Amino acid sequence: MENRVVLVTGGSRGIGKAIGLRFAEQGCKLFINFFQDRESAERTVREVASRGVQAFSLQADLKDAEQIRRMFREIHDRFGRLDVLVHNAASGVLRETLELTAKHWDWVMATNARSLLLCAREAASTMPNGGRIISLSSIGSSRVVPQYGAIGVSKAALESLTRYLAAELAPRGITVNAVSAGAVATEIWNLIPESQVILEKIRKRTPSGRLLTPEDVAEIIYFLASPQAHMIQGQVIVVDGGYSLLA
Ligand SMILES: NC(=O)c1ccc[n+]([C@@H]2O[C@H](COP(=O)([O-])OP(=O)(O)OC[C@H]3O[C@@H](n4cnc5c(N)ncnc54)[C@H](OP(=O)(O)O)[C@@H]3O)[C@@H](O)[C@H]2O)c1
Repeated sequence: MENRVVLVTGGSRGIGKAIGLRFAEQGCKLFINFFQDRESAERTVREVASRGVQAFSLQADLKDAEQIRRMFREIHDRFGRLDVLVHNAASGVLRETLELTAKHWDWVMATNARSLLLCAREAASTMPNGGRIISLSSIGSSRVVPQYGAIGVSKAALESLTRYLAAELAPRGITVNAVSAGAVATEIWNLIPESQVILEKIRKRTPSGRLLTPEDVAEIIYFLASPQAHMIQGQVIVVDGGYSLLA
């Protein structure tokens, strides 16, 4: 894995940050994409670089096709290729489904799902045999989570797109997969009312007895990026301590 060029979208904090650090431990070169919070991104880049690897921050709003093109031009200009795309960035609106406006829908679909298509197209143009595209999904893609309709639908699109991309890119030796994570207590939860109560309920209902950590998720992403995972193609790997097993 040493010297592989890795882009983590939304890599400035939360799960994305843990993913960047995991790849850095193996000597990968890291691009950390962010949208608005430059300070967190620069802090993460310093932490990643302290592992002795090259690391760069890349500002780009993934809702914008031109900004995505610019981001990949910068990667290409520096290293001429991308080996691993981790599509981790996401945004959302928490509302009852019937209260969603067209603007909410377009915002969330563009950030979470269309961006995978646009990033995958750019990535694939320089991705060698052995390349990897890995996305982050969640249980809301197939189950009804209150207020989560916009994000859930976008994650369902992302999972379906994962299968189509996998079939098209497999002949080139590139794998495309998604990881569906259970609840991870990242900053995003601070925006949810009663988040501590909800997280405690999830913890109690999880057969493995605890919530996931960002590092739990990063480990599985890293495995999917490794040569050992080359025959896992177009799958959604559930990592939730057994939460989704229960009726
Ligand atoms: N946390 C959970 O419980 C959980 C569970 C299952 C799945 N997931 C999935 O795991 C992934 C990471 O979750 P997280 O909780 O770590 O998220 P988070 O803490 O909210 O971080 C989101 C990241 O995405 C970036 N981002 C947001 N909108 C963007 C845009 N338009 N363009 C580029 N970057 C953008 C943010 O950048 P700025 O800070 O610069 O805006 C930030 O780096 C997401 O795909 C999420 O759906 C999370």
